[in-house]
Amino acid sequence: MNNSTKETNLDKILTRASGFMDAQVILTAHEMGIFNCLGSRAASADVLADELEISERGLRILLDALVSLGLLSKTNDHYKNTKTGLTHLVKGGSDYRGATLDHLIRMRDMWLRLDEAVEKGTSPRKPEESLVHNRDRNRSFILAMKDFGTPNAKIIAGNLDLSKYERLLDLGGGPGSYSMEIIRQFPQLRATLVDLPLTLEVAEEIIKESCMDEKIELKAADFYNDPHADIGSGYDLALISNILHIEGVDLNRKLLSRVNNAMVEDGMILIHEALINENRVSPPDRAMFAVNMLLHTERGNCYTFNEIKGWLEEAGFSGVELVDCFEKPSLMIAYKK
Ligand SMILES: C[S@@+](CC[C@H](N)C(=O)[O-])C[C@H]1O[C@@H](n2cnc3c(N)ncnc32)[C@H](O)[C@@H]1O
Repeated sequence: MNNSTKETNLDKILTRASGFMDAQVILTAHEMGIFNCLGSRAASADVLADELEISERGLRILLDALVSLGLLSKTNDHYKNTKTGLTHLVKGGSDYRGATLDHLIRMRDMWLRLDEAVEKGTSPRKPEESLVHNRDRNRSFILAMKDFGTPNAKIIAGNLDLSKYERLLDLGGGPGSYSMEIIRQFPQLRATLVDLPLTLEVAEEIIKESCMDEKIELKAADFYNDPHADIGSGYDLALISNILHIEGVDLNRKLLSRVNNAMVEDGMILIHEALINENRVSPPDRAMFAVNMLLHTERGNCYTFNEIKGWLEEAGFSGVELVDCFEKPSLMIAYKK
């Protein structure tokens, strides 16, 4: 690389500062149904514009930008989805991620209010905008969690020996991906998935579709806000996956103590979380995730291994360890002693 093409520090800053352009081109194309409208054929901008009932000029410029990002290909003025696009961006693809893109669209809308969140030190979201009040948005969020969860659940189930456990508490289990994957790997286990009623509606569908409904019981409880919430008892295994970042320190300490009470002696607890290093600035995507929590929750945050270890020990767990099975620190185990 000669000097004229070398990326300077200023270039790096400006590339990052204009990252919203790439994001907006992809999310707008998804929102407008462009990937689905193209499907597996090659089509010209005028044909697509007709079908989508939008301006040909606007669409052509957007399609070219999508080609420049490598999301579409273009030959003789005809546009096509790439193989990757067909897999992930077109309905019916073998790993369709529409729910994830819908989730990113909702996140984007909140990220535009970052200044308000920083000023106030908490989410600018009004209570009525919260997922618990909106069946459709909650459903779409839980479907996105399914996309994210399944590969991680496979890693957890593939790296731990859970063969001696029988009763799993999947606290805030969302779509049920973790319970299902763990039971597939360790079929002697039965799970209780505890979550909010709107989420359980979605979980029920997904779990039934996978024919796992006889092995996974659903239990409705607001485990953070209702001091009398019933999360069940007698568990020898508990999983708390991607929950602790939703809340602040006090409610997390109470929650872990409640889980300890619901478990039998020697039971094992698994905490799956986006852990942040002690300096709170790395890994970089975890520092960004903390911003996301500032935006979307009242008191949520990314926590360090030592913070969660302290809460676990205070709640009556011991032998706290980090399990090195993810690229970034994400899985902790401990035992009720
Ligand atoms: C980020 S998702 C995690 C889902 C799943 N455990 C995973 O790792 O993919 C958070 C889950 O916690 C549930 N949840 C949030 N607050 C809750 C509360 N106060 N009581 C019960 N469930 C709650 C949500 O409905 C959602 O299913």
